[in-house]
Amino acid sequence: MLPTPSVILFLHSTPVLSINILGVFMVPSISHQRVFQSVWSELSLRGHNVTVVTPDPLNDPSLTNLTEISLRFTYDFLKQPKIRDIMSKESNIYLNRDATFRFMDALAEVELNSTQFKELIDDQTKQFDLILTEYFHPVMYALAGRFKAPIIGISSRGVMAVIYTILGNPTHPVLLSLWNKIKSVLWSLWSWYYHHAILVPRGHETAMKYLGVDIPYIGDIEANQSLFFLNTNPLVYPPRPNVPVVVETGQMHIKPVKPLPQDLQQILDGATEGVIYFSLGSNVKNVNLENRVRNTIRQALSELPYKVLWKWESDYLPGRPKNVVTRMWFPQQDVLAHRNIRAFVTQGGLQSIEEAISRGVPLIGMPFMRDQPMNVQKIIDMGIGLGIDPVTMTKEELKKCIIEVAENNKYRERIQEIRDILYDKPMTGLEKVVWWTEYVVRHKGTKHLRSPTVDFSW
Ligand SMILES: *[C@@H]1O[C@H](CO)[C@@H](O)[C@H](O)[C@H]1NC(C)=O
Ligand SMILES: *[C@@H]1O[C@H](CO)[C@@H](O)[C@H](O)[C@H]1NC(C)=O
Repeated sequence: MLPTPSVILFLHSTPVLSINILGVFMVPSISHQRVFQSVWSELSLRGHNVTVVTPDPLNDPSLTNLTEISLRFTYDFLKQPKIRDIMSKESNIYLNRDATFRFMDALAEVELNSTQFKELIDDQTKQFDLILTEYFHPVMYALAGRFKAPIIGISSRGVMAVIYTILGNPTHPVLLSLWNKIKSVLWSLWSWYYHHAILVPRGHETAMKYLGVDIPYIGDIEANQSLFFLNTNPLVYPPRPNVPVVVETGQMHIKPVKPLPQDLQQILDGATEGVIYFSLGSNVKNVNLENRVRNTIRQALSELPYKVLWKWESDYLPGRPKNVVTRMWFPQQDVLAHRNIRAFVTQGGLQSIEEAISRGVPLIGMPFMRDQPMNVQKIIDMGIGLGIDPVTMTKEELKKCIIEVAENNKYRERIQEIRDILYDKPMTGLEKVVWWTEYVVRHKGTKHLRSPTVDFSW
């Protein structure tokens, strides 16, 4: 007789008792770190022994299998005006990319040079079975050489084309006009050259300086990653073919709905006229908004026939309209789950969009920078809300836009349809991460999954 399916499953996945995992998440940006926080806390809750180096430790005493090494100081490093200037003012993409990576080089160096990091690297008693690292700078790949352990790369979103090439992924055929095709080819070639001839050798110098001269070449370690966790979702990123070492996760930071604090619960329960949730995320600061934009927003919100929850950096908003409640922080995922929430005004961050989808709340996208305009265009294309330009909008336009999304049921119906598609899958992103992480340790790497294209010379 054949064994039953559950027996087969058991035979094929001999449980790994407890893995010693080192996680290194180097970029001081809470929207990235929030994704990784879910990963490291979940791995520790599954009984693995997890050590992480991060600018955003959770400091949660209930996570007893977790050791966090804080790199909080990197947030101050990020504030240096010189660096911010270069990155925000340089519009030439080639120079901008170079400036970004020079900044990343400097960031990696201050991190590796910190006492916290040095203690970890120099501790000869430390042993790890697996290294998990944010892919952003190849220098951290050197840790796999130092601890002689397999490595898994992870990204909180999609990655640059050159990273796909390193993993052996076929390049995505894009439909572009001739001129755009030429630009795209030049950009790919330049990125490839920059990565392999400049960034990695420079990173290797740094790696040798802090981890010893006998460290394997970090470019080889990078090509030798056992897996790469990619936090994308097929509705926001176009689907693409992936080699087996690329594991798509998604919705990593979405938590089950928790009860609201009592005061918020009362406010929301009482607002049967409907509630608009307004938050521009953690990077767009309301206080830095131009006066005109801020006044337009305030006036439009004050004239809405709903209650408004406005995430604002201080508990005091001068001239706060009667229907507006401001807080420095809201438990956003739980607020969005409340039945009286009609719509969510967002700057268009990917994670906020995912949260809105998971709670089925339609959106008004008000993009300010970076990938936000592109994401807001997606909101419009998917039919899950509307977009408005904060620079040119008038009070009447903003008001009309919010009321349309709040009252016209088609946006809510569409976003709930999208949620049903997104959540219809055999395992969640986090479950995938846990399963595949244990898989790498069970089989001592994934040599058998390596695509031959990784080893093609160019
Ligand atoms: C810690 O790990 C052990 C197994 O090593 C597991 O039984 C326990 O549930 C874990 N505790 C927490 C709080 O994660
Ligand atoms: C590649 O990975 C395997 C498995 O983890 C390891 O044994 C090998 O030393 C690695 N090679 C390099 C160059 O990192």
